Amino acid sequence: MPDPKPTVLIARRIPKSGRARIAERCELREGGLDATPELLRELAQGVAAIVADPTVAVGPELLDAAGPQMRLVANFAVGYDNIDLDACRERGVLATNTPDVLTDATAELALALTLAAARATGAAEARLRNGEWTGLDPTGHLGAELSGATFGTIGMGRIGRRYAELIRPLAGTLLYSSRNAKPDAERELGAARVDLDQLLSDSDVISLHAAASPETAGLIGAPQLARMRRGSILVNTARGSLVDSAALATALRQGNIGAAGLDVYEHEPEVPAELLDAPNCVLLPHVGSATVAARDGMARLVADAVLAVLDGRAPEHRVA
Ligand code: GLV
Repeated sequence: MPDPKPTVLIARRIPKSGRARIAERCELREGGLDATPELLRELAQGVAAIVADPTVAVGPELLDAAGPQMRLVANFAVGYDNIDLDACRERGVLATNTPDVLTDATAELALALTLAAARATGAAEARLRNGEWTGLDPTGHLGAELSGATFGTIGMGRIGRRYAELIRPLAGTLLYSSRNAKPDAERELGAARVDLDQLLSDSDVISLHAAASPETAGLIGAPQLARMRRGSILVNTARGSLVDSAALATALRQGNIGAAGLDVYEHEPEVPAELLDAPNCVLLPHVGSATVAARDGMARLVADAVLAVLDGRAPEHRVA
């Protein structure tokens, strides 16, 4: 007999639309935005499912604290590097993510970071707000024009592909590097697949769209930054672990690359001090999917997954 009112832990917080659907069928526990790992282990005891997000580490400790009735980790994100998938599999726990619904939002933010980094809009606005603006300066605030530039995307999955579509009208040349060839992107966007070294040395703008994994950790470090063009721009809306922030800060300070636009950091919400101090660096607080439409879509998918598993159906978007 299925438990008529199973308990679900929303580790932090999700939009009302998804929360209400889960609450109709389940007892809810919620950790809130400041939930600590200790609090989550306490709240997890006896739950049937946990709704996690990229800030919530889901590993053996949390799963064991939940107990053997635990069936699903529904991640409120497309990335799932916060979940120990092997630990889930070993315990017969399923895991799901929320792809597609956040593709436009995240690609659009990568575009915004690209343009903001090229024109240093953050620093210009700060000057104005600080009362330092004395009028149009014919020789000041000089940024880079991107029309006709060479754009390189690392990773050509859903978000990388959407970014490539968005910048296509601006781009002279479109390059990509990816584990697998993407004939559709080559045919429809004229994107050329090159190896990482060529992408680094030939691109004016590089945008990261690869998943976090042991293989992509530190993908952009000092040697890769040294290959990039002087004046080039690095954008990261994927995961902080892809970039060595100390090496990036040095490359910006020494003028080896021109600018960076970052939305993600390795140990969020910590932002490395060297990046806060680096010149030409636009920093955002992990808002890639932060649009009403995307977040509602993510909440809907999370609720769909929880309700499917509790009804004994296979959830969509399984990652374990
Ligand atoms: C957000 O970071 C996501 O992976 O969806």
